[in-house]
Amino acid sequence: MQQPATLPNNIVLIGFMGCGKSTVGRELRRLLGYPLVDMDAVIEERAGKPIARIFAEDGEAAFRDMECEVLEELVGAADTGRIIATGGGVVERTENRACLQRLGYVVWLCAPPAVILRRTRKNQERPLLHTEDPGARIKSLLAQREPWYRECAHLKVDTVGLNSSEIATGILESARYFFAGPAQPPCKEP
Ligand code: S3P
Repeated sequence: MQQPATLPNNIVLIGFMGCGKSTVGRELRRLLGYPLVDMDAVIEERAGKPIARIFAEDGEAAFRDMECEVLEELVGAADTGRIIATGGGVVERTENRACLQRLGYVVWLCAPPAVILRRTRKNQERPLLHTEDPGARIKSLLAQREPWYRECAHLKVDTVGLNSSEIATGILESARYFFAGPAQPPCKEP
């Protein structure tokens, strides 16, 4: 894992669907005044259609290709000092995990499956959860992805019981410490 001195000054939010990446991203933007890059929004704008339609018309692999492209551009960009909110599946590709680790301070927002199910139930915009049993899908995807989130993250935040302002404040404090401080070990389980 790259160390603070060699990393760009970005805060990168990763984690499963429904864990609050976009909401916390907006709160961090408000607190820090940094621009927010919401990768899903960038992809939708480029494709000219919502993610559900990209999945339906072009397939998941096409969406993942676009995700990869946006991430590579972010790594290559000269400007730093950004909040980057990723999609929940960005960690699926090995090359993306390598990009994330070069992009800045990586924060993993997490919540248990039951909470994710409740938070995502009303929203029809997530094609991967359009199944007979979204609860089972959440559990299996989480089991697959958790090691990847862990591999990329400098900080793990359990979002249960905290509002977006509390989460953002905590992230800011630890990001300041991270960028100012000595070399950090990779994210450890609490
Ligand atoms: C996905 C998560 C979504 C979006 C797409 C795929 C995933 O983003 O990128 O539907 O694979 O988990 P959010 O995590 O912002 O919902």
